[in-house]
Amino acid sequence: MPFPVHRPRRMRFSENFRRMVRETRLSVDNLIYPMFVVPGQEIRRPIQSMPGIDQFSIDLLLEELQEVQDLKIPGILLFGLPEKKDDFGTEAYDSEGIIQRAVRAVKGRFSDLLVITDICMCEYTSHGHCGIIKNGQVDNDRTLDFLAQIAVSHVDAGADMVAPSDMMDGRISAIRKALDDKGHTQIPIMSYAAKYASSFYGPFRDAAESAPQFGDRRAYQMDMANAEEALRECALDLEEGADIIMVKPGLSYLDIIYRVKTTFCAPVAAYNVSGEYSMIKAAAQNGWIDGTKTMMEALTSLKRAGADIILTYFAKEAALVLRQAMLA
Ligand code: PBG
Repeated sequence: MPFPVHRPRRMRFSENFRRMVRETRLSVDNLIYPMFVVPGQEIRRPIQSMPGIDQFSIDLLLEELQEVQDLKIPGILLFGLPEKKDDFGTEAYDSEGIIQRAVRAVKGRFSDLLVITDICMCEYTSHGHCGIIKNGQVDNDRTLDFLAQIAVSHVDAGADMVAPSDMMDGRISAIRKALDDKGHTQIPIMSYAAKYASSFYGPFRDAAESAPQFGDRRAYQMDMANAEEALRECALDLEEGADIIMVKPGLSYLDIIYRVKTTFCAPVAAYNVSGEYSMIKAAAQNGWIDGTKTMMEALTSLKRAGADIILTYFAKEAALVLRQAMLA
């Protein structure tokens, strides 16, 4: 007969009590800010479907990064839009490609900022798929060599970590081996290990101009209904040498984050993807929700579920809120 002896509300009566017993604390240390870089100069182009997020040319990216650094965000994830696309995604592994140039410029100016690069082909291929096409299908094994080359070229340019998002089988081994062969044994791999075929990527495909030109990605990204498969994917990637395993998207997959975190002793990342960002932004712009509070609730839920690292377009806004809370 717990009541009236036990009254959980006692610990909720004042902010100081709530603060004292709070179990989950989001920190700026957990955040990674994804950014889009485009060729050209003096370009800061707003992405219609992602209010507050822009594509930057390298010069203006550097200006923006001053702010990111001042907010103490530890790292960024870079996505590139190439000058031109072709069947083999040539610019993805060109030492003068958009990402390679951007990484050199960023590391030249902000040597401590962690620069993480997305390893995938979809932004660079004319067909928009994440690999090389043969007979109308993405050819897994042929794609591995390309992914390894992309990773090496990013690290040669100065990237601190690579994040393969293509979902080919065996890519972590292939990338690990290629990096090691080049002497990059210290560079970690953050694997998009459990990446689902998701409609929540819609706004990103505008931002990165990477929508598939035929078919969809269900033959390589995971079926949204599967959870055990996510654990198998993570186990394989860890065996192949992944240093961080990621679950993506985040908010509809909190159960997966929890299971991955409780199953493996490894750092877990969650990607709070474009659609999750844009839905909150759109509702807030309509006055239907409080955007800032909803953002903090969403990010805290990812951490509570077990994410050590959160990739989010909210990184700057959240860092500002967290800093204000510290000063208050
Ligand atoms: C590239 C990639 C995608 C995202 C990250 N890397 C898109 C996709 O797989 O279609 C999505 C990120 C987001 O929605 O914020 N493969």
